Amino acid sequence: MACLACLLALAFVAAEAQQMQSNISQGSSLTPTTNSTWLSRSGLYAFGFYRQGNGYAVGIFLAGIPEETVVWTANRDDPPFSNNATLRFTGDGLALPTAEGQNYLVKPSSTPSYASMLDSGNFVLYNSSREIVWQSFDHPTDTLLPGQRLLSGNELFSAKSEADHSTGIFRLKMQNDGNLVQYPVDTPDTRPYAFYSSSTSGAGENVTLNFGADGHLYLLNRNGTNIRNITEGGLPTDEGKLYLMRIDVGGIFRLYSHDLKKNANWSVQWESSNDKCDPKGLCGLNSYCVSIDLQPDCRCLPRFEYVNQGNQTSGCERNFVADACKNRNENFTYTMEELESTTWEDVSYMNLRLSDRNDCIQGCLEDCNCEAALFDGTNCRKQRLPLRYGRRDTGTSDRALIKVGVPRKPDTDPRIVQPGNKKKGRTGILIIGLSFTAFGSILLLISVIVWWKHNVWAYKRMSAVNGDLELNEGVALRRYAYEELEEMTNNFKEELGRGASSTVYKGLILGTQKPVAVKRLEKVAAEGETEFQTEIRVIGRTHHKNLVRLLGYCLDGAKKLLVYEYMSNGSLADVLFTRERQPFWEERMGIARNIARGFLYLHEECDAQIIHCDIKPQNILLDEFMCPKISDFGLAKLLKADQTRTTTGIRGTKGYVAPEWHRKMPITVKADVYSFGIVLLEIICCRRNVDWSLPEEEAILDELAYNNYHTSR
Ligand SMILES: *[C@@H]1O[C@H](CO)[C@@H](O)[C@H](O)[C@H]1NC(C)=O
Ligand SMILES: *[C@@H]1O[C@H](CO)[C@@H](O)[C@H](O)[C@H]1NC(C)=O
Ligand SMILES: *[C@@H]1O[C@H](CO)[C@@H](O)[C@H](O)[C@H]1NC(C)=O
Ligand SMILES: *[C@@H]1O[C@H](CO)[C@@H](O)[C@H](O)[C@H]1NC(C)=O
Ligand SMILES: *[C@@H]1O[C@H](CO)[C@@H](O)[C@H](O)[C@H]1NC(C)=O
Ligand SMILES: *[C@@H]1O[C@H](CO)[C@@H](O)[C@H](O)[C@H]1NC(C)=O
Ligand SMILES: *[C@@H]1O[C@H](CO)[C@@H](O)[C@H](O)[C@H]1NC(C)=O
Ligand SMILES: *[C@@H]1O[C@H](CO)[C@@H](O)[C@H](O)[C@H]1NC(C)=O
Ligand SMILES: *[C@@H]1O[C@H](CO)[C@@H](O)[C@H](O)[C@H]1NC(C)=O
Ligand SMILES: *[C@@H]1O[C@H](CO)[C@@H](O)[C@H](O)[C@H]1NC(C)=O
Repeated sequence: MACLACLLALAFVAAEAQQMQSNISQGSSLTPTTNSTWLSRSGLYAFGFYRQGNGYAVGIFLAGIPEETVVWTANRDDPPFSNNATLRFTGDGLALPTAEGQNYLVKPSSTPSYASMLDSGNFVLYNSSREIVWQSFDHPTDTLLPGQRLLSGNELFSAKSEADHSTGIFRLKMQNDGNLVQYPVDTPDTRPYAFYSSSTSGAGENVTLNFGADGHLYLLNRNGTNIRNITEGGLPTDEGKLYLMRIDVGGIFRLYSHDLKKNANWSVQWESSNDKCDPKGLCGLNSYCVSIDLQPDCRCLPRFEYVNQGNQTSGCERNFVADACKNRNENFTYTMEELESTTWEDVSYMNLRLSDRNDCIQGCLEDCNCEAALFDGTNCRKQRLPLRYGRRDTGTSDRALIKVGVPRKPDTDPRIVQPGNKKKGRTGILIIGLSFTAFGSILLLISVIVWWKHNVWAYKRMSAVNGDLELNEGVALRRYAYEELEEMTNNFKEELGRGASSTVYKGLILGTQKPVAVKRLEKVAAEGETEFQTEIRVIGRTHHKNLVRLLGYCLDGAKKLLVYEYMSNGSLADVLFTRERQPFWEERMGIARNIARGFLYLHEECDAQIIHCDIKPQNILLDEFMCPKISDFGLAKLLKADQTRTTTGIRGTKGYVAPEWHRKMPITVKADVYSFGIVLLEIICCRRNVDWSLPEEEAILDELAYNNYHTSR
């Protein structure tokens, strides 16, 4: 008590020594070291220089209390000023002369003649007719004081840290729709980014946030009607009580009180949330917030490391080699790690409707674009990194599945056997070794040899029975036995389609009953097993959302079959040329764009360039979301040239084949581009390229388009 009196007295003495004046006239100046502030009448508030970093900032702070409390900062993102700076009050406002000219901190629209630091904490400039031309209350930074308002369209921004009052990473906005909402900085004012809301949207324009002297925070609509009490108010209003509202560094906004009579600190009267993990973005990229003893703790994704351990917002980065689809790394196998009960921002590029977690894991592993997946029991949302706004939420069953790279054992043959199989062998040697030590090294040696042999046999059996093709991501193309496919397709009962060199049947994966399309190839050119497997591997390695995925294959003598994912909406030809199913223009353009993306990938982005050679609407399939996927790519090399469909003996379909093919010129990707052009015309016009039911001059679409193009020029 006595001590506080001393302090207050000291403050007043200090004030007296400086400029204890409520009227500051034009021509006055301040410097950081002498005459550094203009005080309010009671000495409670000061305007002027305060220490920031290794220099000074200019702002308003509480001079009457021991705890450093800055309530406003001019040009808060400027670098600190050095101690030779001088702040001058001129007819233009408040400015610091610099080498480059005047650095204005306050520049009102009309000429100020005097200024006043008020006891409310408001610093005001008046013109000669005593009208306010500028006041700090109109330009809040992170704090509101009693009597101050936050007008519609305005925002408070948190500070960077307790010691650094420049703009931080959270904001509180009084929106034009009447809602008071908190967001991270640099985000749109939309619901997915909000982490606090007064739930008053729809209250109309010009709603204001008001702050009463009794600690009452409330919203008034444009008619002056109270529409929401954010705090109830009714706190003591005697002289010794100070209140302020601030959006804190951690993103939560709080009402604080301070008792001048007691030598107390600021104490929290109310807060927008008591969960410090609520503010989105508190933890940086690839990290998630966990509340421990009410304190937020940022944790990295599995196998990620802190960028800067001391700075939670700096986030985490991978400590393993990233797998971009283009530069695969043979030395890594990819697995999925699981983070239970966490929620993240969803920026999925693809959503799979799946109810089995393992299918989601598999779906991500098999897609080199997929770096993580969010699984909620019904949806598997594939994501690219970085992930944002993560937090643990014990109330949710949502989980994040993160793809991580594990160094591949250097002695493993990456092609045939899964890494797990060899590991088992090693463990065996170890156990046998331990139990036989007593019998001496000879016995041990024998046992090791026995085990080694056993492993070799097991290994051979494995490759014979289960010779799946392992692809680079550690994802295997399943090799099926012919009998298995017979069972899956119910003895090839339901035919989905028939082409010149293949027939497609519907099948169900045994167990999961997931539908698949089984394609039986006829006239296979790649007769040899190795050759066939090489081609299959190329196809299996291509993953793109606009390509039909190959799931497995069967190679049983002459019987060669491919197992593809099932496309429930049939082919583009089915929908385009069936009047009742024709999609709208926007949908059709979306389909065209997605087909083009698939081709860009086949032609330019995948490991081995693939020329399709047979593009037509029948070969573009639509999944349950009407997303188009190109099918039958990679088969050009696998299948014998088809004599029946074209005049020249090359694979392809009449009407879609580029003219140069007929001249026996080398086939390039341009051939696909031509065919795609025809398909594009068909998509635009919703008719077949060749339709003899039409008048002769309209029967051939590309000719019609060409003629129209010419006459319109
Ligand atoms: C402040 O200045 C104005 C205009 O010069 C004057 O009218 C007013 O009386 C002054 N107030 C005080 C408290 O000096
Ligand atoms: C501080 O300002 C007062 C009034 O403007 C002036 O008289 C005094 O000399 C100044 N002190 C210093 C150290 O500049
Ligand atoms: C202040 O001092 C710094 C060096 O400490 C110098 O670079 C700068 O020009 C000085 N500014 C003025 C206004 O004198
Ligand atoms: C002072 O400001 C008021 C309001 O902006 C204006 O009406 C008045 O003309 C100004 N007086 C002078 C002397 O500039
Ligand atoms: C909101 O305030 C602005 C500025 O005072 C005014 O122009 C506008 O008409 C007001 N809107 C409504 C709906 O009252
Ligand atoms: C404001 O008052 C006007 C006229 O009294 C009324 O028409 C309007 O609905 C009121 N607006 C709100 C948001 O209460
Ligand atoms: C807000 O609180 C005041 C009392 O402080 C009360 O009179 C008023 O009705 C409340 N308003 C709303 C919208 O709850
Ligand atoms: C006020 O809080 C600060 C930091 O939280 C602490 O260091 C200081 O001792 C407190 N002062 C009093 C008087 O409680
Ligand atoms: C923490 O890291 C972020 C991003 O790396 C950086 O912008 C920020 O300034 C750092 N914060 C502190 C207090 O150092
Ligand atoms: C894989 O490891 C081998 C040997 O450690 C090394 O020579 C090779 O460059 C590595 N490959 C890649 C793609 O990093």
